[in-house]
Amino acid sequence: MVSTVIPVPPFDLVVFGATGDLGRRKILPSLYRRLAANQMPPEARIVGAARSQMSRDEFRALAVEALEAFVDAGDLRPGLVEKFVACLDYVTVDAAGDGGWRELAGLLGDDPERVRVFYLSVAPSLFGEIADRLHRAGVATPASRIVIEKPLGHDLASARALNAQLSAHFDEHQIYRIDHYLGKETVQNLMAIRFANALFEPLWNARHVEHVQITVAETVGVEGRGAYYDRSGAMRDMVQNHLMQLLCLTAMEPPSRFDADEVRDEKLKVIRALDPLRVTDTVRGQYRPNHKHGGYLDHVDNPASRTESFVALRAHISNWRWSGTPFYLRTGKRLSARLSEIVVTFKHPPHTIFPQVEAQKGNALIIRLQPNEGITMRVTIKDPGPGGMRLVEVPLDMTFASALGPEAGKMPEAYERLIMDVVRGNQTLFMRGDEVEAAWAWVDPIIAAWGEAGSKPHPYDAGSAGPIEAYKLTSADGHLWREIAA
Ligand code: BG6
Repeated sequence: MVSTVIPVPPFDLVVFGATGDLGRRKILPSLYRRLAANQMPPEARIVGAARSQMSRDEFRALAVEALEAFVDAGDLRPGLVEKFVACLDYVTVDAAGDGGWRELAGLLGDDPERVRVFYLSVAPSLFGEIADRLHRAGVATPASRIVIEKPLGHDLASARALNAQLSAHFDEHQIYRIDHYLGKETVQNLMAIRFANALFEPLWNARHVEHVQITVAETVGVEGRGAYYDRSGAMRDMVQNHLMQLLCLTAMEPPSRFDADEVRDEKLKVIRALDPLRVTDTVRGQYRPNHKHGGYLDHVDNPASRTESFVALRAHISNWRWSGTPFYLRTGKRLSARLSEIVVTFKHPPHTIFPQVEAQKGNALIIRLQPNEGITMRVTIKDPGPGGMRLVEVPLDMTFASALGPEAGKMPEAYERLIMDVVRGNQTLFMRGDEVEAAWAWVDPIIAAWGEAGSKPHPYDAGSAGPIEAYKLTSADGHLWREIAA
């Protein structure tokens, strides 16, 4: 099965901080892949903008190195690499000073129609400043878009301040806030599964759904990012954004159209319908050292840090659809497997005609986001063979890679899709300012309450499923977390 590629119009993409880690690891390789897929036109221009003094040729050489490091060798075709490199330019710009802005304006020219994207791959403290300087340099045309990525504030107050700084110079329809989870193929598939099939939607409510689990488990620790992470913790780093987006897509009402604001309105309603979290609905954890790896405290500067590398929580959505159905969320570093999944567990049949059979687990729909994207439906069938009616649970398994053929494994990565969406002017997979603020408004009080309580996160072993207390959170309601296994 071959996916259809719709070419985008020629554009100028200015990447502030292009020589940094994200630029080299994700942005440049993603653009190369889109050129290879004939989606990015060769007339597009990608302008690296950073503080380092660098010639255009040096930037091009850096880009080739980045492609060699981060694109599969088999996808690096010599003619194509040259074609890509020919799209690249570079200007030395001081994001926090006056240098380089005139040169940037000269390079971009004055075509008001041409799509212009400013991708701010820089420290968040510079977002407002750059937005302001883009305006003062006269390069922010009405056809311009600005792209930023988390952390989008540290709390509600700072998120509001950031939104205000951006909206001083850009309309909301020009601001693209990336949550790279929304660029993942299966995350978008959640909407397709729910709204393009008649099967699930009638059952998708508190009357039929016992509980929902959303897990994003990682095997990596925080090493190398300790300084950032220790100020953030799992709640700010993962829950406020990625897990919140998954929760919204799972719980939202069907939008009337697949349109950016319709979808984002529905997501916002979910966040606003969340009950305030209580401390007793949350469990924090911090991984300890083992024979193979250092512990969390070995990777951060503060030996007494109380920052959580794991969080589990029980959320309630107070609306007609979900009242009474708990949503359990958990995420953590250094867990037993890398796994992201959403599990929707349905209620038991109202009456059993097999009274001799022990309680069954009930139907569940398991949506695996990564790895091995796919859906599994847990169903109960008869255990084959003579000797009476015994029941057994089996998975009805659909791995997308086997259902869709080898092309499924070559789906564009999140950044490829998201950058092309920016060029096309499609905001559906980007967060709106009010969504970000609402998510902070929900997590802020609980982070404050943890601080006030003065309690420490529970230690957990690297390679485990997190602290045992997380199990108590679900078992208190008679539910069990699914195992974290690859
Ligand atoms: C990032 C977080 O946003 O997402 C990281 O800052 C985390 O801490 C990463 O590791 C997970 O992304 P993915 O795509 O690997 O699941």
